[in-house]
Amino acid sequence: MTTYRIALIPGDGIGAEVLPPARQVLDAVGRRHGFGFAYTSYDWSCERYARAGAMMPADGLDQLRDKDAILLGAVGYPGVADHVSLWGLLIPIRRGFRQYVNLRPIRVFDGVDSPVRAAVAGEVDFVVVRENVEGEYSEIGGRLNRGFPDEMAVQESVFTRAGITRVLDYAFHLAADRRGRLTSATKSNGIVHTLPFWDELVAERGAAHPDVTWDQEHVDALAAKIVLDPARFDVVVASNLFGDILSDLAAAVAGSIGIAPAANLNPERDFPSMFEPVHGSAPDIAGRGVANPLGAIWSAALMLDHLGHAEAAADVTDAIAAVLAKTDLRTPDLGGTATTAEFTDKLLDLL
Ligand code: NAD
Ligand code: IPM
Ligand code: MN
Repeated sequence: MTTYRIALIPGDGIGAEVLPPARQVLDAVGRRHGFGFAYTSYDWSCERYARAGAMMPADGLDQLRDKDAILLGAVGYPGVADHVSLWGLLIPIRRGFRQYVNLRPIRVFDGVDSPVRAAVAGEVDFVVVRENVEGEYSEIGGRLNRGFPDEMAVQESVFTRAGITRVLDYAFHLAADRRGRLTSATKSNGIVHTLPFWDELVAERGAAHPDVTWDQEHVDALAAKIVLDPARFDVVVASNLFGDILSDLAAAVAGSIGIAPAANLNPERDFPSMFEPVHGSAPDIAGRGVANPLGAIWSAALMLDHLGHAEAAADVTDAIAAVLAKTDLRTPDLGGTATTAEFTDKLLDLL
């Protein structure tokens, strides 16, 4: 029997509430499909920061290196500044392990009431491919003259030919395997240097992928179109910050950011990939046991896919679809009163 070595990093807030459901689901599908998981749990979190002065130990990445995949809950909690917690844990993993693709699928499931009229179940099915290691999220910059009238903050964006090209190629291949359509998020009308470069490379890679029909939209207009006509999209490729914003927007269009999954992929597989819900630690609901576990469970399905178990992954997404279509059990973010545990038990019944 194949046993996969999985690093579990629950992290902060509801991260610790949504990972156990994901693990239960993994164990159940593993049993059915004849493989298993050996988990190693890490307490890396804001709580650890308060105790030990660091989000993770200095050799943290080395401890993760030999794992087949990483499953993460959420990072960040009031009491520790977000730039400290995120640069101390989440971002180093994405960057150190060259997880340069952040894949964020969006589906409107039958049985979910979207706040958006145009978001018809079954018709909306697209993927945001977010550049995950460069762009607007750079370490270059600083704060000057703190507290003085000339105070300022500066941050450079870093867009490289190699970094853009590899994520575009991933997105074009994905589009070719799906419905053959790609939309690039740009802002070349407003930002002088970086996005015209991005656009040029989109055109270059587009020419190399004649099987894909592509276009580009200014990100502001694109945000509006995702609300007004979400069914038109197949693959949306975007820079780090644009992809971050569009994926929360799209998740809300699909009913709740509690459902949306993410795969931080290292396509070359020279380091482990990391799977985590799109949402954060949700301090406003943490500790009440009512977080929607679907984002974490669907992320586990993306992990199964990555490990080569497409059928097991489909079992999980089918169970997600079934619990939403066939029952009226819902966590509060979807208008119900079910707890995380009640909802997970029902999903496990249907799996
Ligand atoms: P958030 O995603 O934690 O919460 C936004 C809103 O969505 C809240 O009202 C929350 O209750 C709700 N929500 C989120 N997930 C839900 C779920 N599974 N079920 C039901 N409701 C859910 O975003 P935020 O408030 O901007 O950030 C809180 C903290 O999380 C910050 O420290 C932030 O930096 C961090 N964060 C981490 C990640 C990550 O680890 N990848 C992602 C986003 C935010
Ligand atoms: C996400 C989060 C992170 C990001 C933050 C917490 C740094 O919003 O995973 O979407 O912007 O990448
Ligand atoms: Mn985000």
